[in-house]
Amino acid sequence: MNVLNLLQRKLQDALTGLVSDPAVYAAMLKPAQEARFGDYQANCAMPLKKELGGDARQIAQTIAARLQLEDMLEPPAIAGPGFINLTLRSEWLAQQVRHMAGDDRLGVAPVEKPRTFVIDFSSPNVAKPMHVGHLRSTIIGDALARLLRFLGHQVITDNHLGDWGTQFGMLLYGYKHFLDAQAFQSDPVRELARLYVHVRNQIKKTAGAQGDEEEDPNDPIAQAARAETAKLHAGDAENLRLWRAFMPYCYEEIERIYRRLDVHFDHTLGESFYQPMLADVVRELCQRGIAQESEGAVVVFFGAEESPALIQKRDGAYTYTTTDLATIRYRLQQWNPDAILYVVDFRQGLHFKQLFDIVRRWGYDKVELKHVSFGSVLGADRKPIKTREGGAIELGALLDEAVAQAARRYQQTRQERIERGEEVPELTAEELEQIYQAVGYGAVKYADLSQNRESDYVFNWDKMLSMEGNTATYMQYAYVRNRGIFRKGGIDVLALRQPPPPVILQTSEERTLALQFVRFHDALAAAAAELKPNLITGYLWDLAKTYSSFFQNCPVLKAETVELRQSRLLLCDLTARVIQRGLDLLGIRTVERM
Ligand code: ARG
Repeated sequence: MNVLNLLQRKLQDALTGLVSDPAVYAAMLKPAQEARFGDYQANCAMPLKKELGGDARQIAQTIAARLQLEDMLEPPAIAGPGFINLTLRSEWLAQQVRHMAGDDRLGVAPVEKPRTFVIDFSSPNVAKPMHVGHLRSTIIGDALARLLRFLGHQVITDNHLGDWGTQFGMLLYGYKHFLDAQAFQSDPVRELARLYVHVRNQIKKTAGAQGDEEEDPNDPIAQAARAETAKLHAGDAENLRLWRAFMPYCYEEIERIYRRLDVHFDHTLGESFYQPMLADVVRELCQRGIAQESEGAVVVFFGAEESPALIQKRDGAYTYTTTDLATIRYRLQQWNPDAILYVVDFRQGLHFKQLFDIVRRWGYDKVELKHVSFGSVLGADRKPIKTREGGAIELGALLDEAVAQAARRYQQTRQERIERGEEVPELTAEELEQIYQAVGYGAVKYADLSQNRESDYVFNWDKMLSMEGNTATYMQYAYVRNRGIFRKGGIDVLALRQPPPPVILQTSEERTLALQFVRFHDALAAAAAELKPNLITGYLWDLAKTYSSFFQNCPVLKAETVELRQSRLLLCDLTARVIQRGLDLLGIRTVERM
């Protein structure tokens, strides 16, 4: 039940025939900021003074009188300069909660008009180990895919691997000059990673445009590596053979990370896949007058201010942009999507702006193209996070650390709980490993997803693994504690759910919790509309707080009557289920016992 949407539609009906643009004003209905303003609040009366004339309170009265309340709403209250405060009838709320409890999808009906989304995310440049820079795209992209799919959309995930770029030149150069054949025999992935790093370290560095280090293009090894790349692209048999030999190891390397993060792709069509199509793309863009020759290269011009986009270099090489153009055409032909989402670092903003502009001029104007941009992961010094030696933190090592940190903290907390006299379950080594992984990976994901993706954030183990505050650890414990109630009471949750008992909303805490439940769908819809997973974590955090005050004030197993006990058990169960589902949409696991 998407309550916000339903109320906005009611308001729109009330405004129809009264104002010129009902939808615009109906959209001004929002959840109330404070309980004393009701559950939802419409503030459209004030801006409507211009169109309707007269007094805003009077306008509010008129609108309120036209609202179809049915069994959903209490009579509206007009407040302040002309706010319309709406309160859901508690009987209606109780009914909705009961319906939610009986539904596997927790009352979230699939969208009426499903769209087809292609989500381009993670997309690392392979041949070098994945590093912390790939974390955000992978985590945010996966969460968006899960969310949109759950809402009933068709989602096609595509990992646009950088598998054809200059890094292969370094690898080829390294393989030819520094190979440790025995190491390659026993652990090829590691040896390739070592070769890449080794070659990179041999190349002199200079200060780049943004003050960071860049490889000196005039360094002889850099030049030799570039020559290897050029040979590969020109179809040199030896380099192609080696490239083909390397690729399975590159896949293995990234797959290992994806398995740990529980991330899956429908397609992994790397840049190499599009190489045969590039000449045709350039030809077509030239024919249509979109691209043109300039100083021996082929470029697309934008405004006078903006630098042109290069689609074929003077030496005949194609670019990142050319490949992306071919990719869009391929995706449109294969899957005919309504939208393509690119979950990529904000630094590529100009690339996508120009890319989308060219695509429009090319005539593909139906598909929605969106750069789902995100900020950087910062270290304690507020600069992009690095290892102590100044290199990029490898993702594998980061995930190892996450599990180790989770294990250490879990053992510590467990000891404290034992000292406090709490009951702590005996767990097998396997169960413990499951917990460490769920907590460790969950912490990393949640810390990332709970930020507005457009901002940078500071990576901090203490904060992300804290048991208090808006963290995965807190949510996972809340879930476990909640499940503990059922174990303690010897209650069969499945039997409790079907059919769910009547819901009794006696106290204000119970009512507030019920209201929070029906907002689950609102939160998911908002997160999908803005492509912002932090709207889900924000919701879960509010839910956890609401639940906490319910649990402190309303005895559950010791409720006064059997009916009340059943109803409260149902509220507990629903809290656990919403937390579990919410975390699942973020790619975060729960465990039953900790
Ligand atoms: N491989 C690129 C990089 O590491 C990201 C690719 C993003 N996707 C795209 N279609 N351009 O920077």
